[in-house]
Amino acid sequence: MSASNDGGPRGWLYERTGVDRVWDALFARKVPEAQGWVSWLYTLGSATLFVFVLQAVTGTLLAMNYVPSPDHAYDSVRYINTSVVMGHYLRGLHHWGASAMVVLVGLHMLRTYFMGAYKYPREGTWMIGVLLLVVVIGFGFTGYLLPWDQKAYWATMVGTNIAGQTPFIGPYLKKIFRGGPEMGAATMTRFYALHVLVLPAIVGALIMGHLFLVVWHGISEPPTRAADADAEKEPGR
Ligand code: HEM
Repeated sequence: MSASNDGGPRGWLYERTGVDRVWDALFARKVPEAQGWVSWLYTLGSATLFVFVLQAVTGTLLAMNYVPSPDHAYDSVRYINTSVVMGHYLRGLHHWGASAMVVLVGLHMLRTYFMGAYKYPREGTWMIGVLLLVVVIGFGFTGYLLPWDQKAYWATMVGTNIAGQTPFIGPYLKKIFRGGPEMGAATMTRFYALHVLVLPAIVGALIMGHLFLVVWHGISEPPTRAADADAEKEPGR
């Protein structure tokens, strides 16, 4: 008897939502047979997804005690570190999770590049991936300012100055990022809104599109010499 008609609450839910099929397609999918450690490379996308979920959960919990204003941000982060139950652990997870996400997304991208997974018919998956990379870097840039310590302040000063060097639109970009000619309360409000509202909404939509295409096309096979020979006969594939 399948789970969808077992009569219990699980069957009730599966029959009405199809959530079991989505789960199977994403998490119970077969990884192509690859030699030894190579098969582990196929887990990098899921590892990135896991860290993303971890960032969302720890970020939400941090937001319950963080105050996004230049007067209180630094103290609220200190309060999280010293007085909130498990606060230092929570902040540590979010801090190191951010770096782990950049590393994992980079490795996942290298895996898909070197295995040729970006080729027909997966160009869309790759292009959404490129946007995801930009958004992940955006999370890092906007999040770095939030503790409002010296490192955060000067790193953002440098970052916004670099944006200011963009040909033609540079001065406008710098002003938009800073919320005015100088860095201050408006910069922090802007970065906070991007970090907790705008970027999560964008990344959520992009991940859904990315995963839809992964399920739609199925996972690519590791490249073989036979596949290379076929590609030579049929250029473009
Ligand atoms: C938040 C960032 C990202 C998440 C959560 C994510 C997640 C995933 C997952 C779960 C898969 C399934 C296969 C696997 O695990 O390798 C996948 C496949 C894929 N991803 Fe990503 N990805 C991200 C970013 C990227 C980036 C930056 C690129 C490239 C620019 C990319 C390109 C691809 C491609 C081409 C595939 C298809 C692989 C195949 O069929 O073998 N992804 N992604």
